[in-house]
Amino acid sequence: MSRILITSAIPYINGIKHLGNLIGSQLPADLYARYMRARGNEVLFLCATDEHGTPAELAAAKAGMPVAEYCTQMHRTQSKLAAGFRLSFDHFGRSSSPQNHRLTQYFAGKLAENGFIEEVSEKQVYSNADGRFLPDRYIEGTCPNCGYDKARGDQCENCTKQLDPTDLIDPRSAISGSTELEVRETKHLYLRQSAMKDDLDAWIDSKTDWPVLTTSIAKKWLHDGDGLKDRGITRDLNWGIPVKKGDEDWPGMEGKVFYVWFDAPIEYIACAAEWAEAQGKEESDWWRWWRTDAGAEDVRYVQFMGKDNVPFHTLSFPATIMGSQEPWKLVDYIKSFNYLNYDGGQFSTSQGRGVFMDQALEIMPADYWRWWLLSNAPETSDSEFTWEKFQAGVNKDLADVLGNFVSRVTKFCRSKFGEEVPEGGAWGAHEKQVIFDLQNGLEAYQTHMDNIDVRKAAAALREMWVDGNAYLQEAAPWSTIKTDPQQAAMQIRLALNLIRVYAVISAPFIPDASVKLLEAMRTDATDWPDDMQTALEALEPGHGFVVPETLFAKVLDEQREEWAEKFSGIRT
Ligand code: 2FM
Ligand code: ZN
Repeated sequence: MSRILITSAIPYINGIKHLGNLIGSQLPADLYARYMRARGNEVLFLCATDEHGTPAELAAAKAGMPVAEYCTQMHRTQSKLAAGFRLSFDHFGRSSSPQNHRLTQYFAGKLAENGFIEEVSEKQVYSNADGRFLPDRYIEGTCPNCGYDKARGDQCENCTKQLDPTDLIDPRSAISGSTELEVRETKHLYLRQSAMKDDLDAWIDSKTDWPVLTTSIAKKWLHDGDGLKDRGITRDLNWGIPVKKGDEDWPGMEGKVFYVWFDAPIEYIACAAEWAEAQGKEESDWWRWWRTDAGAEDVRYVQFMGKDNVPFHTLSFPATIMGSQEPWKLVDYIKSFNYLNYDGGQFSTSQGRGVFMDQALEIMPADYWRWWLLSNAPETSDSEFTWEKFQAGVNKDLADVLGNFVSRVTKFCRSKFGEEVPEGGAWGAHEKQVIFDLQNGLEAYQTHMDNIDVRKAAAALREMWVDGNAYLQEAAPWSTIKTDPQQAAMQIRLALNLIRVYAVISAPFIPDASVKLLEAMRTDATDWPDDMQTALEALEPGHGFVVPETLFAKVLDEQREEWAEKFSGIRT
């Protein structure tokens, strides 16, 4: 048994997330957490909402609510939706928690003590009409790179170029629209990442098993252009974690807060502290996950995220940890994802384009989405959601293969032998071959799951469902029963046992169907089938079951057309 710490990138608080966000981090992280638990490991799976920065302030202003209140409400909404998708977080925290305030200030203090913080006087855009500085998204204008006229101060959404507010042409305030802007001097803190460049480089070189997507992005930031730049970690905003050195005030930093990307990853640690508090545990209980001087040297720490988050997790956050010169745990493996596109374009929160988590659950249960998204995860390249692909995937894999197998086996048994596992007969060469194939299939599935190759894992699982169908088709108990009822009983007994095995191994992908199948099989034997032969004898002759209701309904052409139409526009 190992101990595995899993974190998913923490979603911004500024609204309900779309399916592209979901498959980019939280859903594959959940798949992995469920699998690792099922294999008997001790897992701590953490996620939270990312509540600071300009996106939060602007969204609250748009909703006409005080930002703290907006965040509380949206945290509740996101938490409910996570539960709806069966995301099995051990804790869903908040980056605005007192624990994160304390830890962020603590890390900043340590970094300053160790010489990794520089105070820099710099020029920032100040709006006279708004009476404030305009960082990041508080300022809009024309992109100097592509000419897009709604580029934001931190990034151009059109060409993705990272920008500074002072780069924009014809800048205006995103709050009041005022163009009466001036550049003023203000003091900010910078994290001296450049001083840690060689250590970061060597550390990344040591991660030979990381996905190419992860290391290539990290290397690009380390070596392209002038190399790794120092990063501003403070902002002139009201909402956020006040800039302090541990418990002490930071002279000259009054009224400033930490930059959201400084405190967000620290929330991974703070979230463990929140979890411990919520569970009535002690500090030592979360330190054993996070401090290598308190037990975490045995922990394997795995992070999940979209590719846009990779630089912060391979460079800035590790620089924070290394710079603290304290034994906090560094990540062991970073699984990153490309983008899922929506029907010929991008999913977009700001433009309301695509399918959002609440809408998805209104039209189809979680398992359908989980299966489709995971089996089409954008791993090696971007992938695309279309309603045709969704319909085809769900109908073929879930309804025609898995659902059909379950329905045929249980209904046939009920009509010929009654609702209990039938007795008689013994496995022959055909059964032994199938069991051998299933054992191999399981091992392939495990290898892909262990390596977090999500699509390959889904394909291997689907292959095992197909093996069961093929066996049933060839064994044809509906024919055998006419000449050799004992043989038919044995075939059906094997197939009923296979339903239980499917329930156990498919649970990480489709947890609700798994529960339904186990209930129908009237069993709570959920041990992982290390040995296929033994696992396929778990339900003994005489064991009762019921025919489950239709496991997966097919997506009809009318539904597909209706949804394609409904989600073709913009969500307001
Ligand atoms: O891209 C995002 O949704 C960010 N909120 C992810 C933050 S991950 C981490 F740093 F906490
Ligand atoms: Zn641009």
